[in-house]
Amino acid sequence: MDFANKIRLIKDFPKPGVNFRDITTLLQDGQAFKAAVDAMTQACADMEIDLIACPEARGFVLGAPLAYNMGKGLVLFRKPGKLPGKTIKHSYQLEYGMDSLEMHEGAILPGQKVLLVDDVLATGGTVAAGVELIKQSGGQVAGVAFLMELLGLGGREKLRDHRVISLIKCD
Ligand code: PRP
Ligand code: HPA
Repeated sequence: MDFANKIRLIKDFPKPGVNFRDITTLLQDGQAFKAAVDAMTQACADMEIDLIACPEARGFVLGAPLAYNMGKGLVLFRKPGKLPGKTIKHSYQLEYGMDSLEMHEGAILPGQKVLLVDDVLATGGTVAAGVELIKQSGGQVAGVAFLMELLGLGGREKLRDHRVISLIKCD
């Protein structure tokens, strides 16, 4: 399936100069969404993993069905103040601002192998924060999987030490 064809480009969102690649058009196409989740599952099938972790909000959309397909537990990396238990936190730079991710302390145990899943790799700030949370917990990053990779924003370089899969590559 031509997944790239299902993505819509919106200029100047969320601020002037940013070309936003909108995945909602792919998600609302049932066949494309299922085929994309299954293709990501297939690409990760040979990874030895204990858990899947994904950042709020759009990471949940891909992380949850992947965890379901693979029969693995799901760890939610959330924006500040959302998780009820004791958390650990990491702040990061976005293509268009600053943000932080939190996870429940003890959600990842030392030595556990974690597949980190998100919808989009842009500058890599979000995923780098996810990698830090996994490392702070004593876990290992088994791989990183994206629906879409935006080329030329430096994300891939930040993940030099990790196995990275992305279904769609966009300029
Ligand atoms: C978007 C996207 C990725 C991240 C990619 O999330 O879902 O998580 O940005 O950009 P980066 O590689 O430069 O970090 P956003 O923070 O906009 O939040 P959302 O998922 O809640 O929409
Ligand atoms: N599309 C979707 N998510 C994003 C983008 C984009 O262009 N840039 C940063 N996160």
